[in-house]
Amino acid sequence: MTPWERYFLVGRRAGCPMDQMDQFQAADVVLQSRQLAASAAARLCDRADGPTAVGYGGARGGGKSHWLLAQMGADDAQRVPGLKCLLLRKVGKANLEHFEDLRRKLFTNLGHEFSAFRGILTFNNGSRIIAGHFQNEKDIDAYLGLEYDVIGIEEATTLTARKYQDITTCCRTSKPNWRPRIYSTTNPGGVGHAWYRKRFIEPWQRHAEGETRFIAARVTDNRWNNPEYVRVLEGLTGWQRRAWLDGDWDIAAGQFFTTLRREVHILSEFDETRAREWFCALDYGFTHYTVVLLGCSDGDGNLFVVDEHAERLWLPQRHAPAIAAMLARHAISNRRLEITDLKRFVAGADVFSRQSDGSTVASQYAKLGITLKPANMERVSGWAEILHRFGDPANGVKPRLFVHERCARLVECLPALQHDPSRPEDVLKVDCDEDGVGGDDAADALRYLVATKARTIAQRKLRGF
Ligand SMILES: Nc1ncnc2c1ncn2[C@@H]1O[C@H](COP(=O)(O)OP(=O)(O)OP(=O)(O)O)[C@@H](O)[C@H]1O
Ligand SMILES: [Mg+2]
Repeated sequence: MTPWERYFLVGRRAGCPMDQMDQFQAADVVLQSRQLAASAAARLCDRADGPTAVGYGGARGGGKSHWLLAQMGADDAQRVPGLKCLLLRKVGKANLEHFEDLRRKLFTNLGHEFSAFRGILTFNNGSRIIAGHFQNEKDIDAYLGLEYDVIGIEEATTLTARKYQDITTCCRTSKPNWRPRIYSTTNPGGVGHAWYRKRFIEPWQRHAEGETRFIAARVTDNRWNNPEYVRVLEGLTGWQRRAWLDGDWDIAAGQFFTTLRREVHILSEFDETRAREWFCALDYGFTHYTVVLLGCSDGDGNLFVVDEHAERLWLPQRHAPAIAAMLARHAISNRRLEITDLKRFVAGADVFSRQSDGSTVASQYAKLGITLKPANMERVSGWAEILHRFGDPANGVKPRLFVHERCARLVECLPALQHDPSRPEDVLKVDCDEDGVGGDDAADALRYLVATKARTIAQRKLRGF
């Protein structure tokens, strides 16, 4: 069997009609079997009773973006002259470059012109792919109001349901031989997680797909992934591993820190002579708790949260001596720890905002000898950093963050934290009840303490791809 014959066989198994495989062969575009399944679903959109939207989502690196451009350019655009396609992508640092790379990879055999300036790729038959970039949802408005025969959306869960709806209204045609359609690719997580799951994943799981078709992506689908990339994904823990390696859409359900183990992460003793640097973080509240955590790092990149001060309905004048007393419970070179020994003392942005009398909570603390610095407030990367530091002891990923059991509020709240269903990579916010039970103030303080330059190594590596 020749390689092309084998390719045709894989295509037929995936459900691709013969003429679609001919298109791919003519373009010299070789897709892998899961990508071909997505292309077969795209062809179902031709039928009057077929779907109008194809979603290809799940694990990172499955070959989704590659497929999207291949399907639009090598199949759709070739068989209908003058087809107008919009490809929407969120602008990242390397996105334009990425489009350029993919274009070169995919369309060497297809005569076309590309205006990098206008972001428009025009094939010899007059079909076009307009590369639309957006930073924020409102940037998409520039493309709306026009008519497109095909719309491709990259990372669809970065969009709200409302915006997706707006986009669908532009997917219409005046061509008698074409049925308009929307293709989307995505990973689980993001503001659009909940609507995407409802629209694409649930009908697929129920075997009751009508207007949509969903293709589940796996990392293992793509033999072009380099082994290092797969190792990065395998090194992830918690929800990130479930979402990005396994392509699991159920991450919104349940506990956020699934790798937290009491017997590993919660310490009953800690030898403070190991401490190299000391630091504090404050999460401010009046009716809610004000929580201050004291942490230290050792020489091996481990971080220990050793003490906690948590009180509500107190003013800074009362907190300040209590914070000093907390420090004094610990020692540094045979004397008691003092505020001036701290490498940093960070606090949430609210303590720096002006109150009606012009003062700030931070300035009140400054008068009491405590200089607060703004903490990194980015929630998602902050939680990810904590997750990363907890490691995954059950699967041999070493933990680098530990909490002393005397930090009672923190120890109580961490296992209770849940995913935010509408933004699963974030923690659902919870307030304490009127008796002060519950609440996530201690977790926020931990996030400030840990998220110095919060971007997990894994994320940094992933962004590099
Ligand atoms: N059929 C193929 N032939 C050649 N290279 C491919 C093929 N499919 C995917 N690749 C390459 O594999 C790499 C990863 O694919 P791609 O970027 O499409 O994955 P993705 O699912 O969109 O990833 P992410 O979830 O990170 O967005 C890219 O370099 C892509 O060009
Ligand atoms: Mg992609």
